[in-house]
Amino acid sequence: MLTVDDVHTYYGESHILQGVSLEVAPGRVVALLGRNGAGKTTLIRSIMGFTPPRRGRILFDGVDITRRRPFRVARLGISLVPQGRQIFASLDVGETLAIASRPREDGWTVEKVYELFPPLRARSRHPGNQLSGGEQQMLAIGRALMMNPSTLMLDEPTEGLSPLYVETVGQALRTLQSHGIAMLLVEQNLKFALRHADHVHIMNRGSLVYSSSPHALAGDDEARARYLGV
Ligand SMILES: Nc1ncnc2c1ncn2[C@@H]1O[C@H](COP(=O)(O)OP(=O)(O)O)[C@@H](O)[C@H]1O
Ligand SMILES: [Mg+2]
Repeated sequence: MLTVDDVHTYYGESHILQGVSLEVAPGRVVALLGRNGAGKTTLIRSIMGFTPPRRGRILFDGVDITRRRPFRVARLGISLVPQGRQIFASLDVGETLAIASRPREDGWTVEKVYELFPPLRARSRHPGNQLSGGEQQMLAIGRALMMNPSTLMLDEPTEGLSPLYVETVGQALRTLQSHGIAMLLVEQNLKFALRHADHVHIMNRGSLVYSSSPHALAGDDEARARYLGV
C-alpha cells in the first residue's frame, strides 16, 4: 500500500503541491489526471525521492519513505517509468534491461520482458536512439519491471504514441495488473485512463480537486470540462 498524506512540495520558493493525499492499494490502478503544469510529475518526484516534500508523509507498506533517496525507494519496490521515457541513447535494448536487473527467484528477466513486448526482441541489439517512441516506451516499462516492483508509477506512458502503440501499452498494463502490480498512472489521455484505472483523481494547481470511479468521471461532463478541458 502506497499512502501519500498531506504532501507539500516546493521548487525553491514555489509552493507546488499543496496538501496532496491519496492511496494506491495493492494490485489497483489509480489514475492521476490534470492539465499540464498541475503538479502530477512533481507528485511522482516527491514519492520517488527526487524532490522530497517539505511537509506531509509518504508511507509504503507501513514504512515511512518520506525523503528517502530514490535508489532506496526503488529497492523497497516502487519503480518509475519517467515522463519522456529517458532511454539511454547509446545502450542497446538488452543492455538497458540487463543493467536495471535485480535478479530474484521468479522475478523479471530480459526474456520475460521480451514475452511481454515481443517487438523489443527483434530490436535487442539496437541502441536506444534508434528506437521509435513506442519501442522506447516499451523499453522504459521493461526497465522499470527489471527491478521487480510491487508498485509501478507511469508518467504519461502514452504521450506521443501512435494508436497502435497506445494499445500495446494498454495491453501490457492489463497483464501487469493481472500479475498483481499496483500502478499510479499519470495520464493526459482521458480515454486511456478511464479504460485502465480502478479509481481516478484530478489534480489542479497542486491540489486534488476531484476523485471518483472512472465511470462517474465519464458521466460528469461538467468536471471534465472544468478540469480537463474536454
Ligand atoms: N524543476 C523545476 N523548477 C521549478 N519549477 C518547476 C520545476 N519543474 C516543474 N516546475 C513547475 O511546477 C509546476 C508543476 O509541474 P509538473 O509537476 O511538471 O506538472 P505536470 O506534470 O502536471 O505537467 C509547474 O508550474 C512547473 O512550471
Ligand atoms: Mg508531467
